[in-house]
Amino acid sequence: MKALLPTGRPDDMVVLGDTEEPRPASDEALVKVEAFSVNRGEVFRLYSPQPGPRPDWRPGKDIAGLVVQAAADGSGPRAGQRVVGHPPGGGWAEYAAVGTDALAVLPDGVSSIRAAALPLAGLTALRLLRTTGCVSGHPLLLTGASGGVGHYLTELAIGAGAEVTAVTATPERGKRLAEFGATVVHDLADARGPFHTVLESVGGASTARALSLLRPRGTLIWFGQASREPAELSFFEFFKGPRSGTVRHFHYEHFDEAFAPDLAALVRLVANDRLHPEIGRLCGWQDTAATLNDLRDRRITGNAVLTIGQ
Ligand SMILES: NC(=O)c1ccc[n+]([C@@H]2O[C@H](COP(=O)([O-])OP(=O)(O)OC[C@H]3O[C@@H](n4cnc5c(N)ncnc54)[C@H](OP(=O)(O)O)[C@@H]3O)[C@@H](O)[C@H]2O)c1
Repeated sequence: MKALLPTGRPDDMVVLGDTEEPRPASDEALVKVEAFSVNRGEVFRLYSPQPGPRPDWRPGKDIAGLVVQAAADGSGPRAGQRVVGHPPGGGWAEYAAVGTDALAVLPDGVSSIRAAALPLAGLTALRLLRTTGCVSGHPLLLTGASGGVGHYLTELAIGAGAEVTAVTATPERGKRLAEFGATVVHDLADARGPFHTVLESVGGASTARALSLLRPRGTLIWFGQASREPAELSFFEFFKGPRSGTVRHFHYEHFDEAFAPDLAALVRLVANDRLHPEIGRLCGWQDTAATLNDLRDRRITGNAVLTIGQ
């Protein structure tokens, strides 16, 4: 079958090549992939200069398509059902083996293209919001908001009653967030705090500046470092506003629950018109290498979705 294979090169990160079709384990279904999305974490892994991606690693965590072979143990979707899935890898390919605990069935109203935009960014937003706790009526600051996570998080948090301030590079990159009801700023100096919760994913100078906007005893949830620059925090910063504040690390995989129920929840929200994937790039999978460069260089808003054979 055809699959996208890592090259180890920074400006041409993947190439279409031939590889063996996956052999599903007993608790995995075989899915014919119709669409997939790409994520910043995968870009980081593909262009890390040293040691570079492992040669046997196959990228691809977000897929949607058709089950062509159900799991041998009888769990999960049946052959012929359309699904969205979140495998640990191998999804940028014509076929992917996906554990049934990371699959959800798609209703007719949710296309493979919209579904493919959901898994990693949607699961992260859903679980971040769960970690935040009740947001109703609370001011919440979100940095690095123009990407996949930022769009889902903003729509979900506003739906739950939060007052969201979102930071994006330009008004254009914040257009949809403003339509959801967020106050969009392009410099943290313009963000009107103090905030009950800060969700920070940029790193570098952004982390300390965002922390200073936290109210006393507020919480900063640290979930990424898109700039790849480490943050520098000073103990004394906590006396300037965020007195007794909490800084909390977050990773969406560090939960006891399987992905399947949360994927199903995201699909339900989309089907019920309560969550609207923002797909800033849609193209055929032959354009994946160029799309990865554009994601790395901040030229895509929301998610990028690539289709196979459509
Ligand atoms: N902890 C977890 O479980 C988890 C899970 C998924 C993702 N993440 C992380 O969460 C963040 C958001 O994920 P995502 O999928 O929404 O990523 P994304 O689509 O790439 O969005 C990240 C945004 O960060 C902004 N940004 C600001 N400064 C940047 C810089 N120097 N370099 C690159 N981007 C910069 C960009 O927006 P502007 O250009 O508008 O400023 C960009 O659109 C990423 O850092 C990702 O690695 C964490």
